[in-house]
Amino acid sequence: MSEPILPQNITYNSHIQLVTVGSNKYIDKRFRLPLSRSDAEELRQKVILQRRSLDEAGVPTSELINIEVEPARAGGSDEDGFILYIRERFAGLDFMDVVNNDNYGMYLDRLLNDILRPFLKWVEDDYAKAGLDAIPRNFVYDNARGQFCYVDFIPPKVFYKGSYTQEIPECTDPDFFEVRMFSHNYLPGIIYVLYVNLIREFPGQLGLTSGRIEQFLAKHKRSEAYSEISGSPLYRVHSPAQVMEIIQGLADWKRSHYFLLREAANWLNNYSPELESLKKDIYKVTSQERDPNSPDYGRIKQENFEKAKELIISACKSL
Ligand SMILES: Nc1ncnc2c1ncn2[C@@H]1O[C@H](COP(=O)(O)OP(=O)(O)OP(=O)(O)O)[C@@H](O)[C@H]1O
Ligand SMILES: [Mg+2]
Repeated sequence: MSEPILPQNITYNSHIQLVTVGSNKYIDKRFRLPLSRSDAEELRQKVILQRRSLDEAGVPTSELINIEVEPARAGGSDEDGFILYIRERFAGLDFMDVVNNDNYGMYLDRLLNDILRPFLKWVEDDYAKAGLDAIPRNFVYDNARGQFCYVDFIPPKVFYKGSYTQEIPECTDPDFFEVRMFSHNYLPGIIYVLYVNLIREFPGQLGLTSGRIEQFLAKHKRSEAYSEISGSPLYRVHSPAQVMEIIQGLADWKRSHYFLLREAANWLNNYSPELESLKKDIYKVTSQERDPNSPDYGRIKQENFEKAKELIISACKSL
């Protein structure tokens, strides 16, 4: 028997299903974009490499049951292409489903301890050879193990055959590739993006979150990994006028600037709970173009960058 999970879990390229076999529950994931057989096989290798690396690091991951390349269409020919099929054990509910404003602090501490503590110890170079996409839904609370585990391996964010990979098909835009490297593989970037993504979902927890992350890193003697949070021009700003000035001066969306726009959206929503829909609009216009056939694939359109700035600036003026 199989049943689709919530519709919002059907994303652009992957199809996720909860499958029950007897008393066992599994998650089936299919990466739906048809690839050549060799590209699909490479993708399989990259997923395995990223999993193996995180396992070696001691970062808990979902249990892999099966990973196979299969024809894109049952009974189809090679020309129809191939997809990647993954079965994992169902580990539990993700961060967004178990956490609310009351238990937030406790689960944040668990997330930091379970996932980031081993990761911090393992990362040696400026860029981790296997990365993390630190969005709350990628951390699932595994009840049996009593800890969070990481579940997101597509696209892999891994150093493979001499280069890093971030997207499928790969990011064609060097600026956006850098945004991905910053957010998935550069330790201070991963921590900053975790912070931004958490505040997006829990805007009221801004101060608690930065405080706990700072303490956690100090405790593990990795305070330098706090540098992108504390180095952000929005760190500890107090007024909409200051936010406006910072965003007015923003010339591009390169590297951390991409997340600065989102941090400003979070800041506004923290300042005024009524600005939640504005925050959502800002996240929407700062989304990377995902259609591989678009001339803007992998980029933020200039008009969207300007629009994001405009939304933030006009909100600041109205406060
Ligand atoms: N092993 C698992 N156990 C329990 N839930 C899971 C598991 N794997 C995935 N999920 C749930 O399904 C969601 C989507 O899975 P995953 O992150 O692998 O796919 P995705 O296509 O990358 O989605 P997104 O683009 O939203 O990150 C997760 O956020 C989580 O809620
Ligand atoms: Mg995911």
